Amino acid sequence: MTIPHLALVVARARNGVIGRDGDLPWRLRSDLQRFKAITLGKPCIMGRSTWESLPLKPLPGRLNLVLTRDLSYEEAGKAKGAVVCSNLADAIDIARETAEDDGIDEICVIGGTALFEAALPRARRLYVTEVEAEPEGDAWFPAFDESLFRETLNERHDAGEKDDHAFTFRVLDRI
Ligand SMILES: NC(=O)c1ccc[n+]([C@@H]2O[C@H](COP(=O)([O-])OP(=O)(O)OC[C@H]3O[C@@H](n4cnc5c(N)ncnc54)[C@H](OP(=O)(O)O)[C@@H]3O)[C@@H](O)[C@H]2O)c1
Repeated sequence: MTIPHLALVVARARNGVIGRDGDLPWRLRSDLQRFKAITLGKPCIMGRSTWESLPLKPLPGRLNLVLTRDLSYEEAGKAKGAVVCSNLADAIDIARETAEDDGIDEICVIGGTALFEAALPRARRLYVTEVEAEPEGDAWFPAFDESLFRETLNERHDAGEKDDHAFTFRVLDRI
């Protein structure tokens, strides 16, 4: 089997916003369903704030890897059900080992900003939901060179009953 590759999973607004006040700036049931379908069974690496933002912790059916520089975070019982790492390289190593053991070919980085920024150069695939909105926010997806990727999926959807906005599901694969 080949080494499990790194994928980023993000929903971003037209202005790059991904978060506000430790939460998502929208309600998009369709995107939550897509997130689950993409990530289920795969190791998921996330920053400490993203972990804290999860309504259901840990994400079930997935190895949750949480990055923090706070050495007392785990001891304080704040990461129950997750594996805590102090740097991205360690998290990727653990995620890869687990994925290989489970016969999974992809590991997911699920945010936020710093994690996306650090993982982008190593990402083979980006699952991007383009949200048709321009909300205020305090967390952004970093700008990146899209010409390094080929779009392999582009699927526009009108807002469903439990979606605040229309959106487009995209998959970008590194060329
Ligand atoms: N729309 C989306 O797809 C999406 C996805 C994810 C999150 N979000 C939203 O984005 C917001 C959270 O993201 P965020 O960017 O504010 O924070 P974040 O990246 O989730 O967490 C930041 C924290 O992670 C730790 N960290 C980051 N890089 C690290 C590294 N290289 N080594 C060790 N620790 C590291 C640090 O924790 P310590 O301070 O503990 O050291 C840092 O303060 C929320 O609003 C959330 O809802 C949106």
